[in-house]
Amino acid sequence: MSPNFRTLCLFLIVVIAPAAVKCDLEIGFYDQTCQGAELLVFDAVARAVNANPGIAAGLIRMFFHDCFVRGCDGSVLIDSTAGNSAEKDSPINNPSLRGFEVIDKAKAAIEAVCPKTVSCADVLAFAARDSTALTGGLNFPVPAGRRDGRISIASETFTNLPPPTFNATQLEQSFARKNLTLEEMVTLSGAHSIGRSHCSSFVRRLYNFSSTNQVDPTLDPGYATFLQSQCPFNASTNNVTVVPMDVFTPNDLDVGYYVGLTQHFGLFTSDQTLLTNSSTRPFVEENIVNPGVWAIRFAKAMIKMGKIEVLTGTTGEIRTNCRVINSAKSIGSVIDTLGHSSSKVAST
Ligand code: HEM
Ligand SMILES: *[C@@H]1O[C@H](CO)[C@@H](O)[C@H](O)[C@H]1NC(C)=O
Ligand SMILES: *[C@@H]1O[C@H](CO)[C@@H](O)[C@H](O)[C@H]1NC(C)=O
Ligand SMILES: *[C@@H]1O[C@H](CO)[C@@H](O)[C@H](O)[C@H]1NC(C)=O
Ligand SMILES: *[C@@H]1O[C@H](CO)[C@@H](O)[C@H](O)[C@H]1NC(C)=O
Ligand SMILES: *[C@@H]1O[C@H](CO)[C@@H](O)[C@H](O)[C@H]1NC(C)=O
Ligand SMILES: *[C@@H]1O[C@H](CO)[C@@H](O)[C@H](O)[C@H]1NC(C)=O
Repeated sequence: MSPNFRTLCLFLIVVIAPAAVKCDLEIGFYDQTCQGAELLVFDAVARAVNANPGIAAGLIRMFFHDCFVRGCDGSVLIDSTAGNSAEKDSPINNPSLRGFEVIDKAKAAIEAVCPKTVSCADVLAFAARDSTALTGGLNFPVPAGRRDGRISIASETFTNLPPPTFNATQLEQSFARKNLTLEEMVTLSGAHSIGRSHCSSFVRRLYNFSSTNQVDPTLDPGYATFLQSQCPFNASTNNVTVVPMDVFTPNDLDVGYYVGLTQHFGLFTSDQTLLTNSSTRPFVEENIVNPGVWAIRFAKAMIKMGKIEVLTGTTGEIRTNCRVINSAKSIGSVIDTLGHSSSKVAST
């Protein structure tokens, strides 16, 4: 957005129709208001990834799960309350989603220098970008200016996030609902070249694929045997035990994922189907031949995913604590504090 457009946008917000105006996201959105914001996020992410490379995978997945449920509004970060089970406590996210404390640390560092300025949704978007760069993907500028939502509902994860049992047609439909193309779906699935999965996400493929009591025939037999050794049939630990998604280079965000598909090493049905299906297969093959093109496509697709149903302008809020929505009570206590200080002034 050009400076003029931004000025116009702010003018529209303040003067014309406060609730109705939506502004585009903008690269360098915090340059004037909180210059160090992106650096503080990078610092927190780099420390965490240095200590545990898997955190990068966790943050990239967290961004995907935020954006697909109510848009990229930080709703995945909100804690459950007595009356509400939040997204993060859906079985899709709990216990598998990780990296929340990294977002907390980055946000706390930012609040210390520029309070109530940088949204949690943007902190997560920056953290996913940094995680991409730190694991060997491209570094790319992230358009920002997202604002935080106030609603997070566990059951909404089931209808918006694709399960690992989906075939290519179902995956295409799931991504199309978010205005993402078939190519972008295949491109973003390359994120499965890093990180881990719990046995429960794929165990049916090992013993009872499509209720046949057989191992999935599209899985490499040697790999299937390895996975069976890690994830025994009916084991109560299958929601605790994890295996790497890419057994060869689990911390490198690269086209190894697509190479693995050609060797029948796709961990989920939703992975292997990208090679089996004739519409997605050409994208898989292109990525293998040209890793540089894939990396560019991945960065572009992350930017596009980051624009799904965002709150901007005066919609939503800037959460102080990413786990808790700003409450009416805290606004009340601000007024209360003002009241007290003015009565103090009056009485002295
Ligand atoms: C195409 C549809 C997708 C399906 C069905 C899917 C499904 C899954 C499942 C079941 C897991 C393992 C969770 C567990 O059991 O621990 C997982 C992990 C992961 N997914 Fe996806 N995913 C999809 C797309 C994406 C996208 C678009 C991204 C990001 C761009 C992504 C990034 C990741 C990452 C990085 C992990 C590893 C997380 C970690 O190590 O903590 N996935 N995914
Ligand atoms: C994909 O899944 C849908 C829904 O279960 C099903 O109707 C369709 O036949 C499947 N496609 C293939 C190729 O299996
Ligand atoms: C492959 O996926 C495409 C895209 O969703 C779909 O249109 C097509 O029917 C699928 N082909 C098969 C054989 O399942
Ligand atoms: C997809 O695009 C349409 C048309 O521009 C828009 O109305 C809709 O809100 C978009 N959906 C998402 C999830 O971004
Ligand atoms: C395989 O799945 C089918 C359908 O869910 C189920 O009826 C059957 O009992 C399962 N087989 C085993 C050995 O668990
Ligand atoms: C698997 O576990 C379920 C539930 O714990 C049990 O009902 C079922 O009989 C078990 N199946 C086998 C083949 O052990
Ligand atoms: C794993 O599943 C068992 C029963 O299915 C449940 O009691 C346990 O709490 C689960 N563990 C985790 C970490 O979700």
